[in-house]
Amino acid sequence: MYRDPVESLEPLHHRQAAIRTLCVGMIGIGTVGSGTFRVLARNRADIAARAGRSIELVMVATRNLERAAGIVGDSVALTADAMHVATHPDVDVVVEVAGGTGPARDWVLAAIAHGKHVVTANKALLAVHGAEIFAAAREKGVIVAYEGAVAVSIPIIKALREGLAANRIEWVAGIINGTTNFILSKMRDEGLDFAAALAQAQALGYAEADPSFDIEGIDAAHKLTLLAANAFGMPLRFADAQVEGITALQGVDVACAEQLGYRIKLLGVARRQAAGVELRVQPVLVPAAHLMAQVNGSMNAVMVKSDAAGLTMYYGAGAGSEQTASAVIADLVDVARLDGVHAAQHVPHLGVHAHATNALAVLPRAAVHTSHYLRVPVHALDQIQAIAAGLAERKVPVRQVALAAERPGVGPQVLVLTGPVEQGALDLAVHALQARAEVAGPVTTLRVESLEG
Ligand code: HSE
Repeated sequence: MYRDPVESLEPLHHRQAAIRTLCVGMIGIGTVGSGTFRVLARNRADIAARAGRSIELVMVATRNLERAAGIVGDSVALTADAMHVATHPDVDVVVEVAGGTGPARDWVLAAIAHGKHVVTANKALLAVHGAEIFAAAREKGVIVAYEGAVAVSIPIIKALREGLAANRIEWVAGIINGTTNFILSKMRDEGLDFAAALAQAQALGYAEADPSFDIEGIDAAHKLTLLAANAFGMPLRFADAQVEGITALQGVDVACAEQLGYRIKLLGVARRQAAGVELRVQPVLVPAAHLMAQVNGSMNAVMVKSDAAGLTMYYGAGAGSEQTASAVIADLVDVARLDGVHAAQHVPHLGVHAHATNALAVLPRAAVHTSHYLRVPVHALDQIQAIAAGLAERKVPVRQVALAAERPGVGPQVLVLTGPVEQGALDLAVHALQARAEVAGPVTTLRVESLEG
């Protein structure tokens, strides 16, 4: 006789408990928390229908009780003590939307220790302390869900965990920081320099509290770490990621890339190779006609290459109050459906697969194999062939050489597009090039991503 595997594992009282209201305790009620409150209230009936039970915010911890009362009224208990929410017996699931990696780690671990599920939008917390947090959650059989941590309005964690569950994922690449995409779009569209574009991003409230997390690529690397762990079943390897931001990017390279038919995007790339995984965030050239190059302003997009589904692409807002709430509540619906179901029956929220081993180690920078863009300042326009020959001597495949269009205040520049070459070999060739008499200044190099199969 067929026996439902869930039925055979679960005691009856667990399944009966599943019709109870899911009681939510929230830590933090800033931009994301207040959006979560609003969307939960506005779409209450639809959310309950999808969750199979009501989802109620019962308790909020906040440093500003007066402000919080103005948002939630008197229907929700307020406290200044986040640990009270994390450990309260009436709370089934703790939503951590306060941010930071210090106290937030303690609250999340305390919630797990008290048998509570956790929903968080805190990418830094999970990228840095995720190994410890997910191990604790596995031990307790509770869920730690984090759709709101990555490209908020795009259900990319769900897509990787569930929608593409049949696939071997080959690579994931995305524009996963809205602030830097906004800055790069402004630099290209309006010819602004980096500082002026950053000032506009800050005025519009896109940048993180510490904008260095955005512009140095750290925020994108946090998100990429979570994507790679999901895609490949590898451990969280934030500390091993190569992270390069856009602070050193010059307007002249944005314009020269355009001249060659490319746009510069800050891309997070996680790619499976025979010897390990590339895990890197950096400004790269993307073909201007590619869909990824059309992702402008503060929007995010993620492409996934998998063996059965092939190339898929996901697009949406990467930040925002209700956009993040959408992801947080989707996680709450998952928790509502799975609360009381044996943990072995869950699709894991972190894809640390049983077979994952250190074969999924992060490749060193020197071993990464891509095409490159070079901008070489020269003394005279007729030195273009000498530059191409210098690279060819060092076995760098040269695909295209051109002179940069003249720009006021900028001397002659030779632009080169290479074929695929290992970073270590390219670095040696550029070092040799730099010493040539024809070269009039520092050589700039950027990777080129075709984003094809
Ligand atoms: N500062 C982040 C960004 C917010 O610009 O994408 C969302 O994580």
